[in-house]
Amino acid sequence: MTSNTTLERILLTGATGFLGGSVSAQLIAEGQGANLSFLVRAESREQGLQRLRDNLRQHGVSEAASLALEPAQIICGDFLDTTWLPRETPRLMQIDRVINCAAVASFSKNPTIWPVNVEGTFAFAEVMSRSKRLKRFLHVGTAMCCGPQQASPISESWVFPEAREQLVDYTASKAEIERRMSAELPGLPLVVARPSIVVGHRTLGCQASGSIFWVFRMGFALESFTCGLEEQIDVIPVDYCAEALIGLTLKPTLEHDLYHISAGHQAACTFAEIDAAFAQANGAAPVGERYRKIGVDDLKQLAGDFESRIGPANPRLVLRALRLYSGFADLNYLFDNSRLINEGIAMPPRFTDYLDVCVQSSSGVSIATQMQADFK
Ligand SMILES: NC(=O)c1ccc[n+]([C@@H]2O[C@H](COP(=O)([O-])OP(=O)(O)OC[C@H]3O[C@@H](n4cnc5c(N)ncnc54)[C@H](OP(=O)(O)O)[C@@H]3O)[C@@H](O)[C@H]2O)c1
Repeated sequence: MTSNTTLERILLTGATGFLGGSVSAQLIAEGQGANLSFLVRAESREQGLQRLRDNLRQHGVSEAASLALEPAQIICGDFLDTTWLPRETPRLMQIDRVINCAAVASFSKNPTIWPVNVEGTFAFAEVMSRSKRLKRFLHVGTAMCCGPQQASPISESWVFPEAREQLVDYTASKAEIERRMSAELPGLPLVVARPSIVVGHRTLGCQASGSIFWVFRMGFALESFTCGLEEQIDVIPVDYCAEALIGLTLKPTLEHDLYHISAGHQAACTFAEIDAAFAQANGAAPVGERYRKIGVDDLKQLAGDFESRIGPANPRLVLRALRLYSGFADLNYLFDNSRLINEGIAMPPRFTDYLDVCVQSSSGVSIATQMQADFK
């Protein structure tokens, strides 16, 4: 997106991850590389830059563009231990816009989820709220923080369910940090963007990350899951998500302070459509009538087939993963994206438009290996 903000300094957090890597790659491709700063977990700026470059390669950034980045653009920092914040505050006060992608994005019982996603993120945002220069703090939330038992399609709302009602600690933490920043940091120019389910990349497929794609692979390999084939799922590719995040960050004025980044009604696909596209990409017949919709308690009956259908994997982990992800898939949520589209952001593509690229880039990567990335 073009803007008059070329000389502004943009700070990216989470640039060594999936969404942050894609945002970085897109800003670099737009010629903004020299204007970027990156908050990275590292012992030194050089090590931080190395970690960043390793990820940018996966996101298709050229060697030349990556080598043009300098150690001075790295701020070493960890949200788990924020004792570095006072030391780096002078540099943080030079920042015009923040895209905050850093988080522990895991459905597991990781004890760092709350300290990082809530406490550390809040400490960072509190420092940024004191900046006189900061024009926008774009925080990446998750659409799933609305909790279960909502009527779909879901509209953006600052009302959150109780933490104990959330399906996992991760979504509870993402809701709590949004609530705290908006209630307790009136000086923060906060805009929250909540992506729905981010899977693959339109041209790179799962090269940078197979996050969540393994669930589809598993469901079709097992020919069973807890969703009906006619139900829809709200999936977007990471490069579309990045485009929308950048748009929301750079646009001089916005109508709202909270946005879904989602497929919505027009671009969500049914599982039957995904089955057909997946089969075509694999040169196979769709699962179609062989597919069995089962209850979550029946998932364990599939365990005997895990090895033959999905390859070597720890059956307990697979079962746990299937149970957790079925909890979200069964919500059957579509997230309304009209606010985003009304801001002039492009319409999202459909998952089936680029699913073949995800299949090709996953060949040679086992389902179990892809799954591990989501259980940090
Ligand atoms: N992926 C999705 O489907 C999806 C959907 C909706 C919302 N989101 C949101 O998008 C954001 C990014 O998710 P993702 O999928 O890109 O996750 P990811 O690939 O796991 O990346 C997470 C990023 O956060 C950084 N990070 C983790 N712990 C940190 C800490 N203690 N201090 C500083 N940085 C830390 C990681 O750095 P290291 O490399 O050092 O670990 C990495 O750069 C999250 O806020 C997530 O809630 C994701």
